[in-house]
Amino acid sequence: MPLPRVRIDLERLKSLLEGVNRFGFAPRTGGYNRPGFSREDTDCRSWFAARMREEGLTVWTDGALNVFGRFGPEDGPCIMAGSHLDTVVNGGAYDGSLGACVALECVLAMKDAGIEPATAVEIAATSEEEGRFGGMLGSQAITGQVTREWIARAVDAEGNRLSEVLETHDLDAGTVLAAARRPGSIAAFLELHIEQGPILEQEQVPIGIADRVSGICYLELDFKGTANHSGTTPMNLRADAFAGLADVAHSIPHLIEAHGTDQSRITIGHVALTPNQPHTIPGRAVFSVIIRDTSEEVMRILCKNMTLNAEATAKKHKLELTATERSWISPALLDPHVADLLEVVAARHGLPARRMPSGAGHDAQTMQAFCPSGLIFVPSRGGISHAPEEHSNWQDIEKGANLMLQALIELCRA
Ligand code: GLV
Ligand code: MN
Ligand code: MN
Ligand code: MN
Repeated sequence: MPLPRVRIDLERLKSLLEGVNRFGFAPRTGGYNRPGFSREDTDCRSWFAARMREEGLTVWTDGALNVFGRFGPEDGPCIMAGSHLDTVVNGGAYDGSLGACVALECVLAMKDAGIEPATAVEIAATSEEEGRFGGMLGSQAITGQVTREWIARAVDAEGNRLSEVLETHDLDAGTVLAAARRPGSIAAFLELHIEQGPILEQEQVPIGIADRVSGICYLELDFKGTANHSGTTPMNLRADAFAGLADVAHSIPHLIEAHGTDQSRITIGHVALTPNQPHTIPGRAVFSVIIRDTSEEVMRILCKNMTLNAEATAKKHKLELTATERSWISPALLDPHVADLLEVVAARHGLPARRMPSGAGHDAQTMQAFCPSGLIFVPSRGGISHAPEEHSNWQDIEKGANLMLQALIELCRA
């Protein structure tokens, strides 16, 4: 089959991504720092909005800092495409931002080709996807999945309260809740994202079509022991919070073996030790335990057993334990019809693709609870992501972006 006439402009896509990545670049590490609601993140959003306005799109920002650009009919439901612009701390150049830029490039390619969509296409640059506050605030707000109660208790790893951070942007729980779209107003959602894992590269397939996405449970464990002298306190008289943390970390492979699946992942990624001094027994350890699986049932069992383990560990080391479930994002089965469409369109255009699960969380999984959603992956070099070394090659990106373009053309024709 000959390749279609309408194609994305790879050079323009590169310059869009460069534009986004002018915000938050850290020359010392080569990584990017645009945590949700940081100055770098909001500046980047303003740039992206201005760039869409320059192209004549109807552009606005909602009360959760999601940025939208609409192309096509002003009224009626839309096909939404996009991803997030925020990054983890010291993240890579592609995670999220590539998907937002690809969505914009697809619309620009459609405009260039003179395509007038029957159903509007909305580009979405979602906010706070990376879970600084534990959720996926942007897409959860769009889909009406955020509660006042959750906003009131959400804090980041440094103890900043979401409600206070919102206030600095003249936002509050009311504006976030008001960002919810009307049911039926989004006919479908498409996201392109880097795979962030090794499968596509290993199998030399340029495109992945995700069929399910793992959920994310953010459990915070807080061990309180006794800070004391590291030289005088006999080993059997200690209440060492780090010893508790180490036991919990050690239990992870056993827990997965006993209760998990090949999709289970448990990570301790953030640790705060107090007083964190070489010569003092740690009196307190507060740490994140992120539990992921594609099955909600398995996540629940892992979460329950992790908490039981931590309770037993606390007893063994004479610690006091507080376990808090900071957030819970459910796994999702993405829409099979959208996945079929992506597969058919890929085959029609000679783009090799395979179905696969996603171990990382994505806006598409949140959107799936609201409208049929699909997720396109492009390979990640060495499977590396959430690190400055994150890289995807432009030949693969071009293929994935052209699949997005063709799928959008199909969807917005009706
Ligand atoms: C969320 O974006 C994650 O998968 O870490
Ligand atoms: Mn991402
Ligand atoms: Mn990420
Ligand atoms: Mn993510």
